[in-house]
Amino acid sequence: MVSFLILLFFIATAGVQVESLPIYFPRAHRQDLPDVLLSLAKEETRHSRHSNITTYTTHFFQQTLDHFNYRPESYLLFNQKYLMNREFWDNDPHHPTGPIFVYTGNEGDIGWFADNTGFLPDIAPRFRALLVFIEHRFYGDSLPFGNKSLGKAETLGYLNSEQALADYATLITSLKRNLSAEASPVVVFGGSYGGMLSAWFRLKYPHIVIGALASSAPILQFDNITPSSSFYYGVSKDFKDESLNCFDVIRECWDELMAMEDPKGLRKLSRAIKSCSPLESVDSTRNWLDQAFVYTAMVDYPTAANFMTPLPAYPVKEMCRIIDSSPSKTSKLEKAIAAASLYYNYTNSKKCFDLTGNNDPHGLNLWQWQTCTEMVMPMSISNDSMFPRYTYDYNEYQDECFRNYKIQPRPHWITTNYGGHKIDKVLKRFGSNIIFSNGMRDPWSRGGVLRNISDSIVAIVTEQGAHHVDFRYATRKDPDWLVEQRRREMEILQKWIDQYYIDIKSEY
Ligand SMILES: *[C@@H]1O[C@H](CO)[C@@H](O)[C@H](O)[C@H]1NC(C)=O
Ligand SMILES: *[C@@H]1O[C@H](CO)[C@@H](O)[C@H](O)[C@H]1NC(C)=O
Ligand SMILES: *[C@@H]1O[C@H](CO)[C@@H](O)[C@H](O)[C@H]1NC(C)=O
Ligand SMILES: *[C@@H]1O[C@H](CO)[C@@H](O)[C@H](O)[C@H]1NC(C)=O
Ligand SMILES: *[C@@H]1O[C@H](CO)[C@@H](O)[C@H](O)[C@H]1NC(C)=O
Ligand SMILES: *[C@@H]1O[C@H](CO)[C@@H](O)[C@H](O)[C@H]1NC(C)=O
Repeated sequence: MVSFLILLFFIATAGVQVESLPIYFPRAHRQDLPDVLLSLAKEETRHSRHSNITTYTTHFFQQTLDHFNYRPESYLLFNQKYLMNREFWDNDPHHPTGPIFVYTGNEGDIGWFADNTGFLPDIAPRFRALLVFIEHRFYGDSLPFGNKSLGKAETLGYLNSEQALADYATLITSLKRNLSAEASPVVVFGGSYGGMLSAWFRLKYPHIVIGALASSAPILQFDNITPSSSFYYGVSKDFKDESLNCFDVIRECWDELMAMEDPKGLRKLSRAIKSCSPLESVDSTRNWLDQAFVYTAMVDYPTAANFMTPLPAYPVKEMCRIIDSSPSKTSKLEKAIAAASLYYNYTNSKKCFDLTGNNDPHGLNLWQWQTCTEMVMPMSISNDSMFPRYTYDYNEYQDECFRNYKIQPRPHWITTNYGGHKIDKVLKRFGSNIIFSNGMRDPWSRGGVLRNISDSIVAIVTEQGAHHVDFRYATRKDPDWLVEQRRREMEILQKWIDQYYIDIKSEY
């Protein structure tokens, strides 16, 4: 059952040979950009900085609960967390201040996203930018109702993307006023769901931000714009491209698993998987395997990383190596379990696996509520994938949402509100300054914008990229295509910022 995928959304950015334009605000960006990240990554000092993650100061903003009603409770306030780093910011009072780079937080703790978005601190010195990471309402510490009533529609009703965008608009405006930085250009960045928010933010609030870099943002995963089987096909293709045997073993392990649904089989399975408590059905194992393969495909980064969990470089390749090198008498299911164990036990520290699914270290669980309201992304599994077939059934989906929250999803609201159908034709005549970056190894990429729409709404696509890999800290081991991708993103950012200063110059 694929009823509730945890949708993990993460982050990205871009660049153009900067002409010697007369720039009103010269000091912030007269660098020879094209070499910037290249040289950054090569400097010895980079490495030491990596072991010391950028530090942010923590702030809270008194945010309005409900931006769209004028009922008494709409005016309730809650503390919205944001993180800031001013160390690179040019705020010389004699000319317009440097740009403000804002990360539009997604469905989790903002500190976690900040730690995994090294791209912003990496480029901040070159742009002399202020960095701000804003937490999404109802996640992390930004809980309007504290820990209470998190399961009820009465309070969760205030959790949706439009309220979140209005939060960002309100907070950014207040922050600029407080810092006397009204003239600073703001660029938003986001990955995954945060990337969707950053792109939509640019479309809805163009007077607040000059552009958006949306990395791995599947804004076309709604309303069947993208085939519903594309996600699991994408996961499977990653494994198949690595090794056909690996793909076949995983594809065939499910029948072996289903055959263990009896007391004797479950005892054997519990031992094979080293589960902490005896398994009561095969479903938990199915989810456990499914998650390991799905998330590993998403974070198939070219360098060792610890985003969801610690993993080596190219973890899909590693998993397939485990499968391909297992003794031939090992069953397919045992091989699949051994491969999945890489995802859960790369640190070699787990004595047993907890398959109850109750752990949520990054605070993502309310995403389920969002999938039951606006974020309805149909998912099915076709026979060209390595997972058991599954046909999307909206009625079943709806029933499960009703059981959990007593609400009905609105499957067409996202496209009604933000668009999506025929996006190229629509945005060609409306909107500007959005970069959609996607890596084709990321199964979400197929629901992203993969083609250029106009001169300034551009798609940056890498064949080997994974889920917002461009947003990770640069390292000396980064492959050339990744270095090049970030360089192009920076060039484009530079162009937007230069253009902004030219546009406002006449006001001074
Ligand atoms: C990280 O940097 C801060 C500030 O520069 C410094 O105080 C701290 O000791 C560093 N931590 C490590 C582990 O290097
Ligand atoms: C949530 O509950 C825990 C345990 O009672 C408490 O430590 C924590 O401070 C609470 N958090 C909030 C935001 O109320
Ligand atoms: C700006 O300053 C006001 C007054 O001190 C404060 O209430 C508000 O939270 C500040 N805004 C932000 C974004 O911190
Ligand atoms: C985790 O890895 C270590 C080292 O290989 C191994 O001893 C341990 O059994 C593994 N844990 C599980 C639950 O498989
Ligand atoms: C998948 O299904 C299609 C149509 O139902 C069929 O033509 C095709 O042969 C199947 N492919 C595999 C690999 O089973
Ligand atoms: C979109 O255009 C840019 C140049 O502006 C180019 O670098 C990029 O490769 C194009 N993207 C696609 C997907 O063709």
